[in-house]
Amino acid sequence: MTERLFFALWPGSAQRQALEQVKRELPRHGGRETHPDDLHVTLVFLGDVEPQMRSCAERVAEQAADRVRAAPCGLTLDRIGCFPRPRILWCGASERQPPLLDLVGALNQALPGCGFVPERRPFAPHVTLVRNACPLPVRDLERPIVWPMEEFALVVTESGAPPRYRVLRRWPLTREAGAEGP
Ligand code: 2AM
Repeated sequence: MTERLFFALWPGSAQRQALEQVKRELPRHGGRETHPDDLHVTLVFLGDVEPQMRSCAERVAEQAADRVRAAPCGLTLDRIGCFPRPRILWCGASERQPPLLDLVGALNQALPGCGFVPERRPFAPHVTLVRNACPLPVRDLERPIVWPMEEFALVVTESGAPPRYRVLRRWPLTREAGAEGP
């Protein structure tokens, strides 16, 4: 039996509320909005995963979290725009902070060792706000959303119309939450 999995940054309530506010202020788009509880930034998409590969991916996550835990890191979502194909309105970051790139890099480097297909696309941190929407020019957000990266998560897609997401596990990214030593 397989599960459709991905690693993601999952928002706290402040970030979720701010993203909801951005959604409310979008111009008329005619698309399908992401459920408020499903808003996230995908770090690595894993696809349909066998239990054995999931265990391996979880070990990779543990090691990647250990590697980046030292540096305080955050993400600032400061613009909205559109991927014309597959017609997604997103809220994204104009700057990719090194700790975030380190985390994604550490995951992508080790996951092929579990049998996952290497990710070749450059990482473009974004939250999908609306699917099947009309295009929208990229513009800066009046109030950027600051997202302290305290943890990341393994998430499963639950099939349905529309599909929904559920967090399976979380790995702390801060010393306070993650470390037991000095
Ligand atoms: P998106 O929001 O830009 O569509 C779960 O499907 C999450 O994984 C979504 O956030 C989706 O990004 C992301 N994802 C990345 N690559 C994917 C792929 N090949 N198929 C489905 N989802 C993918």
